[in-house]
Amino acid sequence: MFDINSHAVENIQSWSYDYPWKLKIVKPIKLEKQMDPLALNLNKQIQESSQAAFDCLSDLGKQMFFPAGILTQSAEAKEKAHRFNATIGIAVENDEPMHLNVTKKFFSNLELKDIYPYAPPGGRPKLRKLWKDKLVKTNPTLKGKHFSTPMVTSALTHGLCIAGDLFVGQNDVVIIPDKLWGVYRLNFVTRKGGKIVNFPMFNSQNGFNIEGFRQTVETEAVARKKIIILLCFPNNPTGYTPLPEEAEAICQIIKEQADKGVRIVTISDDAYFGLFYEDSIKESMFSTFCDLHENVLAVKLDGATKESYVWGFRTGFISFGTKTAKPENLYPALEMKAQGVIRSTVSSCNQPAQAIIETVLEDPEYWENLESKYQIMESRARQLKIILQKKHYREAWEYYPFNSGYFMCLKLTYVDAERLRVHLLDKYGIGTISLGKTDLRVAFSCIEEENLEELFDLIFQAAKELQA
Ligand SMILES: Cc1ncc(COP(=O)(O)O)c(C=O)c1O
Repeated sequence: MFDINSHAVENIQSWSYDYPWKLKIVKPIKLEKQMDPLALNLNKQIQESSQAAFDCLSDLGKQMFFPAGILTQSAEAKEKAHRFNATIGIAVENDEPMHLNVTKKFFSNLELKDIYPYAPPGGRPKLRKLWKDKLVKTNPTLKGKHFSTPMVTSALTHGLCIAGDLFVGQNDVVIIPDKLWGVYRLNFVTRKGGKIVNFPMFNSQNGFNIEGFRQTVETEAVARKKIIILLCFPNNPTGYTPLPEEAEAICQIIKEQADKGVRIVTISDDAYFGLFYEDSIKESMFSTFCDLHENVLAVKLDGATKESYVWGFRTGFISFGTKTAKPENLYPALEMKAQGVIRSTVSSCNQPAQAIIETVLEDPEYWENLESKYQIMESRARQLKIILQKKHYREAWEYYPFNSGYFMCLKLTYVDAERLRVHLLDKYGIGTISLGKTDLRVAFSCIEEENLEELFDLIFQAAKELQA
């Protein structure tokens, strides 16, 4: 009998080698027997702090742990190995990370230690603390609340992957409004075997469809003990963020189910956070979810990618919050599990990008720059609303309400969205995104204000041509 890896969480079945080339399945072993003692310890810690949080974990989430291997030994050596440190797998020369000058010339304001070595799997500690401070500064309701210190992810996509691994199991239901970013499906359904259940995002008054949300949550909660709810505001593709009374109703609906004992994981996708242009809420819903109820485990995904305009830096964060008497036991255990996912997927996230964001977060110029870009985006959104008042447009489309973010979305009346997209591209050289039969997403974030009118006039003209 050859144990491929006695610590491997994915090693749910035992394998036997008769010959090196012949791999045959013996018999499935029960999960608990196979579980690493470190995972069992984390589970115990989580269960003792919050049974509900434990119940929210997927099978993989229950098995996940952070191995006490090379990284732990290296960390110890970093503290104590004064003579020679021959632990971690980087190369050293003259007491500095070995590097090629040809790469160094691109980094004039970073020290070698902030460029070349691996970042810790959970992210640079100072950056994590600064991001937490930023969350409280920009979400004042979070002040004084206990939520975990954000861990660095390879941006929001990776945060979704971590949340999926930890909380979404086979056939678990993820409730999401029907206006959604398509990659959720790839992550929760294709990767995790979960089920996405949609409800129409808007009601007939063009507000957030509270009744639809209530019915969907109630129906799914009756059928199962655990549900996952994903809300993305500012929304992709519509650019909508709820009004304060809508946000309150959403929280109330979640709380009612939690009162009945349903375990609820809320995932807040805050990719476009901060770009609120009108009278919507201006904080993340996580601010309320994180201490809403003992049965609600809130997960916050956010990042520098979109809100700090550094998409390619791939730097995001994942944070947890719940109402518990023992947050100091719960969060470190959840973090260790998240760290296990990070270690087994990307190992750790980009060091220089983290170092840059860490530095600019303390620079007043960051906040000034952010404000000036906000002004540009807000002005585009306002100008677009004026342009969209043109009466003749109404025969070709309505538009979904938008008050935030990068996008707006047309609801076409007579022309098929994909036909229009292709026609716009072929005849006018205009790129848009078609979503289903009626919806055409326009990212006004990448169109200069003075070009918006021409863009929408051409979309209208193209629609008319197809009608003819
Ligand atoms: C709603 C939403 N969430 C997450 C992401 C992924 O963001 P990131 O680039 O930070 O991975 C996107 C990107 O397009 C998005 O639109």
